[in-house]
Amino acid sequence: MKKLWQKNKNRLMVEVEAFETKGDLLLDQKLIPFDIQGSIAHAKMLKKIHVLTAQELQILLKGLEKINSLYKQNKFLLSFGDEDMHSKLEDFLTKNYGEVGKKIHTGRSRNDQVLTALRLYSISELKEIKFLIKKLIKTLKSYKKEFGSISMPGYTHMQKAMPSSIGLWIENFIAALEDDFKNANNVQDIINQSPLGSAAGYGVPINLNKEFTARLLGFKKVQENPIYCQNSRGKFDANILSALIQLLLTINKLASDFLLFTTTEFSFFQASEDITTGSSIMPQKKNLDIAELLRSKVHLVLGNYVQIVSLSSNLISGYNRDLQDSKKSLMESLEITKDSLKITQLLLLSIKPNKEHLKETITKELFAAEKALNLVLKGDNFRDAYQKIGKNLKGSEKNEKEK
Ligand code: ARG
Repeated sequence: MKKLWQKNKNRLMVEVEAFETKGDLLLDQKLIPFDIQGSIAHAKMLKKIHVLTAQELQILLKGLEKINSLYKQNKFLLSFGDEDMHSKLEDFLTKNYGEVGKKIHTGRSRNDQVLTALRLYSISELKEIKFLIKKLIKTLKSYKKEFGSISMPGYTHMQKAMPSSIGLWIENFIAALEDDFKNANNVQDIINQSPLGSAAGYGVPINLNKEFTARLLGFKKVQENPIYCQNSRGKFDANILSALIQLLLTINKLASDFLLFTTTEFSFFQASEDITTGSSIMPQKKNLDIAELLRSKVHLVLGNYVQIVSLSSNLISGYNRDLQDSKKSLMESLEITKDSLKITQLLLLSIKPNKEHLKETITKELFAAEKALNLVLKGDNFRDAYQKIGKNLKGSEKNEKEK
């Protein structure tokens, strides 16, 4: 495909083109619907400011609709030779609808196009993530309702510490997810600014109606400074990942707990066979790989976060192609997070407490602090009460069941 910027017969070396587009085309393929959305809004705006006639707009809208339907049928595919989704869109419009295709790029650049597409995509992913968090909170609430009254030991330093319950333990994840939801919401709010119209990063000397396109695309406001539009790409993406990391930290803790609590030594919980795997050599094994792979995800996204911050720092203001390489980190992290939320949901539905065994784990020494505090209520000072109870804890009593 002839490049949008190609002015003569000289062509880019095949090796160079491969190096510049490899991998990125697959990511752009997923972003096409958002580039179409951005293009529809831009075309409507061009008509509003009299760059396009009503008839030309209709042709362009028809063309963009056609691309949309081909895309849905898996027939609008980027392949080697297409520089990116933006070029492919314009090329298709020009080849199939003539002159009018050559007009759609008036007042825009691939630099603000990619920002717009990524932002629309990120907002739509964050909306789905928020929905999945809500769903998980709901499942945790019913888990708590069903099993919350069952006692279990609480640990500090990985040693039995105080009496706790499934209810208290589950509630902690609900509270964490509620905060994670706020983080996701907050970052969605921050990135909810339209960069369309910032063009290459310095605006254009014609009067685009940026408010109009922002409104059509559902953005809360226009991101006014065109240089900041470009400079915010890495910052916004890192901000999104930081919210995802918070969420994955919650999932990591839940998974770690379940891994320990389902060992034969602990046996607090039992996972159903349809979520456990076996071993190729040890016939007895029942492994909870699902929780291990949930536990690992925060580390992957943390790696992606470092990539984004690193790729976007030390660049000068304005568009830098380095940022293309951060697209994978962003998109992969959003995918990972959605999958993790769905799988955590499944995990909870397939894991049940061993009620009888949990009763046995509530041993006498767990109540030592409570006993000391009872003495305080009767008039002792805490330190003396602590000593009294501590001295009376006979070795044999340490693991005795509370009668
Ligand atoms: N593929 C590019 C990216 O992700 C799109 C913008 C390219 N702009 C350019 N002038 N080459 O950043």
